[in-house]
Amino acid sequence: MSSFKRLADAGDLTGKTALVRVDFNVPMENGLVTDDTRLRAAVDTVQTLRTQGAKVALLAHFGRPKGERVAEMSLAPVAGAFGKVLGSNVSFIADCKGDHVKAAIEKLEPAGVILLENTRYYAGEEKGDPELAKEIAELGDIYVNDAFSAAHRKHVSTAVLASLLPAYAGVNMEAELDALDKALGTPERPVLAVVGGAKVSSKIDLLKNLVTKVDSLAIGGGMANTFLFAQGVDIGGSLAERDMAETAREIMAEAEAKGCELLLPQDVVVATEVKPGVETRTVLAREEIGEDEKILDAGPLTVERLVKAMALSRTLIWNGPLGVFEVPPFDAATVKAAQAAGQLATSGAITAVAGGGDTVSALNHAGVVDQMTFVSTAGGAFLEWMEGKPLPGVEALRA
Ligand code: 3PG
Repeated sequence: MSSFKRLADAGDLTGKTALVRVDFNVPMENGLVTDDTRLRAAVDTVQTLRTQGAKVALLAHFGRPKGERVAEMSLAPVAGAFGKVLGSNVSFIADCKGDHVKAAIEKLEPAGVILLENTRYYAGEEKGDPELAKEIAELGDIYVNDAFSAAHRKHVSTAVLASLLPAYAGVNMEAELDALDKALGTPERPVLAVVGGAKVSSKIDLLKNLVTKVDSLAIGGGMANTFLFAQGVDIGGSLAERDMAETAREIMAEAEAKGCELLLPQDVVVATEVKPGVETRTVLAREEIGEDEKILDAGPLTVERLVKAMALSRTLIWNGPLGVFEVPPFDAATVKAAQAAGQLATSGAITAVAGGGDTVSALNHAGVVDQMTFVSTAGGAFLEWMEGKPLPGVEALRA
């Protein structure tokens, strides 16, 4: 991502204030953060800025309060949680603009850190309101965006501020963009994409973009049922979007036209209900499936072929599980394939990048998150990137 300004370019920041957009939209229960992955992800940028002499004012959203001060969506509890992760005091102020906020920032010790309140408490945030942007920009000397996972939003704090202050990609943003460029921008070929999950309808743009970019596309999860149905396969009582059959056929035709090899399940695991330990049958995808049976996972032949395809690739992009991985034994295909991907990535045979939706929990379940080359913590932003759409937060940082 050579065309972005990086933090290293910012030079000495002694006495300056950096407004840093982070993604602290973290899971919380009873005021406690239950997963601090996104807090840990922000540490490198904050520490880099502090060593460069800057004070750090953190901007973030939490939930979707739609311009209202919804008490449960205050970021107040996150300040303490981030302080623990950072190993340093993080103060909090219940606003994002105004003289009192400016005064609070001025009062910070050198290299001090303050978290401002939920940016979405202001109606102007999501509208990209230039007035709000001006008021927030007055608080700082530079703007740093470290929130790739919110970069698909064209909001004041994710995009507009970049036009008002010298703007830089944070360390985490930089790592995301470098990894994503390696996967789809200028990848080593052949490139294999694995796309799973329930619905074709939520991933039409993504599939249409991928067939033009990758060499092979493996489809799994509930959406594979729709593709099998579109090919005239009897899928019994399986969940599928039968009204999307025409779209699935269009995607298959586009794949053929572009020379992208489509890998649909050859065999599947079926059962009459989605229950742990329920009796299952493994059948070829073209065999008869009972009206009362549902396809709930990919079968061993499919996994074997997928693993071979991975080994023949140089780059793997993974989004979505191959079966109902939350309910064993329907996690088997996802776990086996993910472990194979992890091994290939660890040995350096492939670059494996994963992200979006429940991909991270599926890879966590398989115990391979640390083995992949890069796992994005982004949901919607990762999917929009896979769709080939420009992300406003990223575009705003281009040099
Ligand atoms: C996320 O959690 O995916 C990001 O923080 C974006 O949140 P949003 O979908 O509410 O914009």
